[in-house]
Amino acid sequence: MAAPVSARRQGLADAEPTVLPGGAAPHGNFPNYSCFHPPEGRISLLPATLWGELFPNPRAGPLLALDVGCNSGELSVALYKHLLGFNHTNSEHSVDGKDIRLFCCDIDANLIDRAKQRSPFPGSISYTTLDIMDPSARETLLTSYLNKFGRCWFDICFCMSITMWIHLNHGDSGLVKFLSFLVTKCTYLLLEPQPWKCYRAAARRLRKLGRNDFDHFHSLSIKGNMAEKITQILTRDCAMEFVCCFGSTSWDRSLLLFKSKEKKHFG
Ligand SMILES: C[S@@+](CC[C@H](N)C(=O)[O-])C[C@H]1O[C@@H](n2cnc3c(N)ncnc32)[C@H](O)[C@@H]1O
Repeated sequence: MAAPVSARRQGLADAEPTVLPGGAAPHGNFPNYSCFHPPEGRISLLPATLWGELFPNPRAGPLLALDVGCNSGELSVALYKHLLGFNHTNSEHSVDGKDIRLFCCDIDANLIDRAKQRSPFPGSISYTTLDIMDPSARETLLTSYLNKFGRCWFDICFCMSITMWIHLNHGDSGLVKFLSFLVTKCTYLLLEPQPWKCYRAAARRLRKLGRNDFDHFHSLSIKGNMAEKITQILTRDCAMEFVCCFGSTSWDRSLLLFKSKEKKHFG
């Protein structure tokens, strides 16, 4: 299938990020994801005082956040507003002297185009097409963004409803590599892993559309309680400690916060 115009324009003609005929979205790149899993369902679980506690003012330079698998940006914007303590009288970058920059990426160039077109905060939120599993592309893009601020890592990384897609498309080792990579790039990690029942539903959806199963679905040995399994990987194999769980969304996904054991606040 030909790559979409926006993917060709960005030199991603070999990627297969678009929704396929019949509506299969092999990377979870659903065009209207925020309509069935609205940002508010996640944001409402986060305490209003959270960011002030994690990142007390004053600080040297902006607070840098990374959103991996941002889709068309609806949750990114909601997270940005929550970080900022936003109400409608605030200006774009700054509330009470807070300066926050959010770097968002997604494998699907069409979704990124949409996010850019709709962005209410183009000066503070950047969107880029990136396959986070491509080691050289991610290193180039993330390093060049961080360098602009003289930093080596982000203060926080958001990883919301993407772990299952990485796991299904890249297997157990891909999931572990993905998590290990994120750990090197942030002080805090906020994660919303999909539970195992979502894996079965995703595989069923693909079969109903007459397509082959995900390459790795039948060979995964990391399975069962995914929140627990991912917590084990992060706390045993990576240098992260579990901070807390903010509860579960109405669609039964928990929101987990981790902190690096090694990094100080400013990268
Ligand atoms: C289910 S959506 C979640 C969107 C958003 N984070 C949220 O929770 O509302 C998963 C997103 O991850 C993206 N994604 C999947 N694999 C990816 C990869 N290897 N690199 C970057 N983005 C990826 C998909 O394109 C999709 O937009």
